[in-house]
Amino acid sequence: MKKAIGAAIFYARFARPFSRLGFRRRVGDAGLDADFSGQRWVVSGATGGIGRAIALGAAARGATVLALGRDPGKLAALAAEAKGPGMIQPVPVDLSLMREVARVADEIAAAGPVDVLVHNVGVMCHEYRQTAEGLELGFATNLLGHWVLDQGLRRGGALTSGSAIISMSSGGMYGAALDPGALQATGAASHDGFTAYAQHKRAQVELTHYWNSLGPGQPRAWVMHPGWVDTDGVRSALPGFRKVFKAVLRTAQDGADTALWLAAARPETGEGIWLDRHRDSEHAFAFTRAGAAAPALVEYLDRMRA
Ligand SMILES: NC(=O)c1ccc[n+]([C@@H]2O[C@H](COP(=O)([O-])OP(=O)(O)OC[C@H]3O[C@@H](n4cnc5c(N)ncnc54)[C@H](OP(=O)(O)O)[C@@H]3O)[C@@H](O)[C@H]2O)c1
Repeated sequence: MKKAIGAAIFYARFARPFSRLGFRRRVGDAGLDADFSGQRWVVSGATGGIGRAIALGAAARGATVLALGRDPGKLAALAAEAKGPGMIQPVPVDLSLMREVARVADEIAAAGPVDVLVHNVGVMCHEYRQTAEGLELGFATNLLGHWVLDQGLRRGGALTSGSAIISMSSGGMYGAALDPGALQATGAASHDGFTAYAQHKRAQVELTHYWNSLGPGQPRAWVMHPGWVDTDGVRSALPGFRKVFKAVLRTAQDGADTALWLAAARPETGEGIWLDRHRDSEHAFAFTRAGAAAPALVEYLDRMRA
């Protein structure tokens, strides 16, 4: 009952701004006149949905995009589709496996600096599953892998003061107060895919604060969410939601727009989560302000990484 009331409040509050009506109102036909020529981008989860649209959008504006994905066929198709002055280079990697993520980060860093890093990969796991490394699959993919990729690129010198880090969170984070203890369940009995996903997405907001607190000489970071986008991820994880809202879901290009815009505009960093080229509040409900802050999160991620 409490959950149903929470969901009703959530949808009443966000159905319009997160739908394509929200995109139309705040972005509309503005277009994006950006030139990313000479830039080297890294986009995780680039073989489908929003990540794919970001990769293609960046390449169309001149960037060389390292596309991180696990399906060689989809990676090849993506690279073949790139049009315009830039290009897409496939980087095969399972982003839920920390050893693979660390290896890829080292390889990318060894080959040169990264101008834009987009932490896009994200999954909603209704069933409890552990990776071969003993981590809950959603936590590994949605959060720890971002941390490991980021750290590896920093360690290798690939992220500099001129680099931009963009994290793809979700409006679902509005329903979660960060609790590092709830980032991953230890078994099926205590696993709730919705709750875990909201925690991961709230954690991305705190992680962005942490990255921006590292001081001068470090890359700047922004966190955004794409609204409600019709992708394979939504089709498989939220079929009921898709059925109800299908007529007003955004396109993958709509969902990608703010990431491309942030990479070009690089607005002031600070509080806030970006949607449709606007900075929105990180909190819609008072209870989420009482959540844990970045230091507790970083301590947990370091412990899980060890
Ligand atoms: N769609 C929405 O309405 C919505 C709303 C809020 C936030 N978001 C966020 O936006 C981001 C993208 O969402 P989306 O809807 O575009 O998702 P999607 O359609 O499921 O696409 C996700 C991409 O990530 C890849 N991927 C998943 N797990 C991977 C792994 N372990 N290793 C390598 N690649 C992996 C998938 O590859 P495969 O094809 O191989 O599975 C796919 O290319 C996510 O962070 C999501 O949480 C989406």
